[in-house]
Amino acid sequence: MRERAIPYIQSISSSWRGNERFAFWIVKKLKPKIIVDLGLNMGLSAISFAYGNKGGHTFGIDWLPTENFSQKRAEMESAFHNILNAIRLKCVKNLHLIIGPVPEISKKWNKEIDLLHIDGIYNYEDIKMHYAHWKPFLKKDAVILIHEIAAHPNEIGRFFDELPFYKTHLPYGNGLGIATPNADLYQEIDQGKLRRLF
Ligand SMILES: C[S@@+](CC[C@H](N)C(=O)[O-])C[C@H]1O[C@@H](n2cnc3c(N)ncnc32)[C@H](O)[C@@H]1O
Repeated sequence: MRERAIPYIQSISSSWRGNERFAFWIVKKLKPKIIVDLGLNMGLSAISFAYGNKGGHTFGIDWLPTENFSQKRAEMESAFHNILNAIRLKCVKNLHLIIGPVPEISKKWNKEIDLLHIDGIYNYEDIKMHYAHWKPFLKKDAVILIHEIAAHPNEIGRFFDELPFYKTHLPYGNGLGIATPNADLYQEIDQGKLRRLF
């Protein structure tokens, strides 16, 4: 079953496609206890983070706003379908879904976070606000991933540039920014990029 897992994960439709191998790598490296994925959509990033994260928990967060409700409900159903398949292929464990607006969820949150991924926010003020809500929960050495930095350079790219950490990025799926306070980890990621590990 597990040998079918990676092709299955990589078949999930998403603009995030291309970042899966990095997700597998960073999870193997960090062995994170808590991963928070803001922006579940059809589940590719959350499933990729949960893959191989045996000892930890991955929380995928998304909402069902009244605007475009039917479309969002269809996407949510696809996410359930994809997650159930990933569970059936025995490739994910401990993947939790939370439905609601990200800022509201953060008000009830109470766990320290090892890896935070922010996806689906397209303007500077909004991502600043979202990050401010989750920042108090980040562990000192937490890794922060920001998607869409290349698609929105003056908004999301600008926010990423301002993060006071070591930073690099991957080009896939509109650009995934990677920020870490850990200089060794930063160098390992850059080496991994050169060796085309992800
Ligand atoms: C680009 S998609 C995420 C893609 C996903 N990470 C993947 O791997 O396919 C962004 C998602 O963020 C969600 N989203 C945007 N703003 C949100 C908010 N304030 N609260 C909850 N979810 C939100 C959207 O509903 C959408 O499904």
